[in-house]
Order: sequence, then C-alpha cells, then structure tokens
Amino acid sequence: MTHILFLTLIWYYIIKKRLHLKNIDKIPHIPVLLNEVIYAFNDISSGQVVDCTLGYSGHSSQILKEHSSIELVGIDRDIEALEFSKKRLYQFQDRVTFIHGKFSDKLNDINLSSTVAILADFGVSSLQLDKENRGFKFDSDILDMRMDQSANLDAKDIVNGYSEDDLIRIFKEYGETKEHKRVTKAICSYRKNHKITSSKELSNIIINNSYKKGKIHPATLYFQAIRIEVNSELIEIIKLLDILETKRPKGLIVALITFHSLEDRLVKRRFREWSKSCSCPTGIMKCICGNNNNLGKEVNRKPIIATKEEIKINPRSRSAKLRVFKFKN
Ligand SMILES: C[S@@+](CC[C@H](N)C(=O)[O-])C[C@H]1O[C@@H](n2cnc3c(N)ncnc32)[C@H](O)[C@@H]1O
Repeated sequence: MTHILFLTLIWYYIIKKRLHLKNIDKIPHIPVLLNEVIYAFNDISSGQVVDCTLGYSGHSSQILKEHSSIELVGIDRDIEALEFSKKRLYQFQDRVTFIHGKFSDKLNDINLSSTVAILADFGVSSLQLDKENRGFKFDSDILDMRMDQSANLDAKDIVNGYSEDDLIRIFKEYGETKEHKRVTKAICSYRKNHKITSSKELSNIIINNSYKKGKIHPATLYFQAIRIEVNSELIEIIKLLDILETKRPKGLIVALITFHSLEDRLVKRRFREWSKSCSCPTGIMKCICGNNNNLGKEVNRKPIIATKEEIKINPRSRSAKLRVFKFKN
C-alpha cells in the first residue's frame, strides 16, 4: 500500500512539473553573451547570486543549471517578465527568490553578505520592444515605453507635458541627437492642437522634421532618449554602481552588460576608478598613499563583445558590451 502511495506521489510530481514547463509560452528573448557571463561566474561554487534584470531568465536559468549550490535572487521591474520567469524557473523554485521592483530600491533591502556574484543586463527586453501594447515600436498605436506598467510616468506624459527646454535637454543628453531643436519645435507646435497619443504619430513628426539621412530609422535616438527618461535608465545604473561601491561583500564578481555608449561610459569610468591603486593628487613626485587603494580589478580591460556567430543568430547582441569587475577578498 505504501508502495503505491509512494509511486503515485512521484507520478504526481512529474506530471505537475511537466504541466508547468508546458505552460511556458515561447521564450520571447534570447540572452546576449550567455557563454561569456557563465565564464565570468566560473569560479563561484556556493552563496547568493543576484540577477538585477531577471527578464526571461535566459542568463539565470543557465547559472542555476551550472551551479547547483547557489541561491538566486531575481529582480525585475516588469511584472510580465517576472511571471514568465516564475514558470521558467519552476524546477529551481527552492533556490530562487523573485522580487518585483527597481534594482536601485530592492538591492538596498537585500542582505548582500553572502552574495558572490551580481549580474545586470541593462536595457529593454525583446518582448518589451516588440509587443504592440508596450508602446516602444515606431508604428505602435500606443505611446507608453514603461518597463514597469504600474509606474506613474509614461512616454505620453513626457511628449505632451515636458517644456520645450526639457525635451531638448533629454534629446541632447540621452539621444545625442543632432536636429533636436527643429524636432522639438515641431512636437511643441503639433501638440498645441492635438495631444500626441501614439508612437506612430510621434515618429511621423520626427521623420517629417529630420533632414539628415543615416542608416538607422530617424526616430531611433529620439525614442531612445524618451525611453531612458521614462525609466530613469542611466540614473538606475549610477545608483547600482553606488550601491556596489558601498555595500560590496569581499570577493564579489560583478558582470554588467550595456547596449549603448551612454551606459557603457558610466560602467567603464566607475570600474577604472575602482581599479586605481594610487590615490595621491596628480603631479605629486612620489607616491605617499601606499599604492594599494584599489577596490579590486577589472577582469578584462576591454569590454567583451559578441562573436560574429552570435550576432548572426541574435542581431540585438551587436551592440552589447560586457564588463566584469572582481572586488578584493
Ligand atoms: C535585457 S532584459 C534582461 C534579459 C535577461 N537577462 C534574460 O536573459 O532574459 C532587461 C530586463 O531588465 C529589466 N530592468 C531594466 N531596468 C531595470 C531596473 N532598474 N530595475 C529592475 N529591472 C529592470 C527590464 O524590465 C527587462 O526585463
């Protein structure tokens, strides 16, 4: 009798697991530089790993597979991504904690003392970019661009509510656009008569007022700027670097993936600062600081980029740059 009960329980467990796997929709995002991230975390054996941008757990599922003794904390501000990952990581559920919110907030609540590795794969996921109702696409009927759909500020608020000066500032700083004055004037004059409610409308205004021809869609950099502002993307990176600097446990490995120069510049500069051994003022004849003030070292001086093969399979990886830093023991 106990035999049958035991077999039924095992059966039940297998079926339940299968059903969960079946319930996963098609995986909507291919992780970039996956092998390179796994290689960066090669030396970890146990402890906690924090994935600050869990997304569809492409990186995290592989990390959990490779390291059977680690516990993973997965943070994402996108509830849709988090729900997907809960299903995808079902088989590892005893070792995973899911947290909804911004990593800049949530990392302050997490005890990092046993954390051995931190990963952040910045930017938007393919699903966020491709799904019509998220309003990131140039031809979408919606103008939204929030990673967290419960956040207050969306792209519509910015495009219709920001002053002309503030629009110019974000286009210049976050898009490094060349024709922002003309484009902003056009947006401001259009919105006097009609509220801009769709990405389609916005990209048409931009197209009609951009004269310089390039390889990319004329609205690309304007959309990038608005997206960065909606989601405070660069501020989030600065806050993450500040948290790492102050809360870092000994020996922590940090792997950060960026997708454009504004993001990479922030990471590169901070990693360089952390690597500096000498803190003497410049111009001093002889070092008096002990020349041992570095917080750790950059594992690779140059960023790691995708191979031709990876770019062929996943064109999104073309602009990805991975930088890895190892804090001192
Ligand atoms: C490029 S995707 C990550 C993909 C993931 N590595 C994978 O393999 O599936 C970036 C994810 O990070 C999330 N994200 C971006 N900035 C965030 C932040 N400041 N706090 C929390 N999540 C963030 C986005 O919602 C998105 O799901």
